[in-house]
Amino acid sequence: MTLILGLESSCDDSAVALVTGDRRILAQAVVGQNAAHQPYGGVVPEIAARAHVEILPDLIRRVLDEAKVGIGDVDAIAATAGPGLIGGVMVALLAGKGLALAAGKPLIAVNHLEGHALSPRLVDPDLGLPYLLLLVSGGHCQLLEVRGVGDYRRLATTIDDAAGEAFDKAAKLLGLGYPGGPAIEALAGSGLPAAVPLPRPLVGSGESHFSFAGLKSAVQRAVASGDYRPEDIAASFQQAVVDCLVDRTALALDKTDAPTLVVAGGVAANAAIRSALAGLAAREGRGFSVPPAWLCTDNAAMIAWAGAERFAAGLTDGLDAPARARWPLDESAERVRGAGVKA
Ligand code: KG4
Ligand code: ZN
Repeated sequence: MTLILGLESSCDDSAVALVTGDRRILAQAVVGQNAAHQPYGGVVPEIAARAHVEILPDLIRRVLDEAKVGIGDVDAIAATAGPGLIGGVMVALLAGKGLALAAGKPLIAVNHLEGHALSPRLVDPDLGLPYLLLLVSGGHCQLLEVRGVGDYRRLATTIDDAAGEAFDKAAKLLGLGYPGGPAIEALAGSGLPAAVPLPRPLVGSGESHFSFAGLKSAVQRAVASGDYRPEDIAASFQQAVVDCLVDRTALALDKTDAPTLVVAGGVAANAAIRSALAGLAAREGRGFSVPPAWLCTDNAAMIAWAGAERFAAGLTDGLDAPARARWPLDESAERVRGAGVKA
């Protein structure tokens, strides 16, 4: 059975995993850096890149040891080659190239977004293609028709902030720690979702893309007014994000016959978001699949699995594979307007 070593360092998690072509995770490890970035309320690229250099090599040794596997036993080395913070991306990619070179194994340069996109298939063998994917993370907010390995059609993206970025910025305004998503979700549990009037940018406009910048500004005004309890702001903010995600996803479902709606990426760890989208899928007569929370946030099992899918399709890369800060899954999709446009 095919055995793939996966390496990930494109944001603030160093991760390594060994995954087989028949969906077994032999060993995996993720080391986050929340404490290092906490004082800044977001990821500091330079700090992240330096930490990966220190953490990743030992993590590779630990995962190989735990699985009792030598580098000679793997069939290929899959490393994230982008998109992401370029200093970090280069760490796993170059580590992967070094291992591939030393062991004489093929390299698979994995698109981090393809890792998220295919991750549900690692744990759900019955999830067939195509499916509509809502990919919501700290860096991305996209609706993609997943047609096959390396075959994606982007139906929507964000014109400003990503959904996770919105959570992180709202959390910072509320004086909560980084990452903001889990902190907001916890605080929202004791708040009232209708207590604070917040906008739902673009909802009902027929526009297919996402926008969260206006929502963030409204949270800023609500906090500054001193009129609301923090838990009510958190709950109302989370409800506004839920409404935006459901509205845009409903629009995208009208544009595809894909039988299943899938949600992935770090924000998919949010219980309110998961249940609202499950409800949407049920109303629309589509199936619904969401990976467990540990597979939604950044990890290397999804990179190894994307590597396994690419390896099975005969797709490997040369040792000159580039590190890419920007790398859209659908290269034909137009770049949309807006300042902080993500890949
Ligand atoms: O996929 P991920 O681990 O890294 C990226 O590729 O961006 O996603 C991290 C993002 C952060 O913005 C974090 O605040 C958000 O996912 N997140 C959540 C939750 N857990 C993580 N957002 C909302 N609710 C959560 N429970
Ligand atoms: Zn990610």
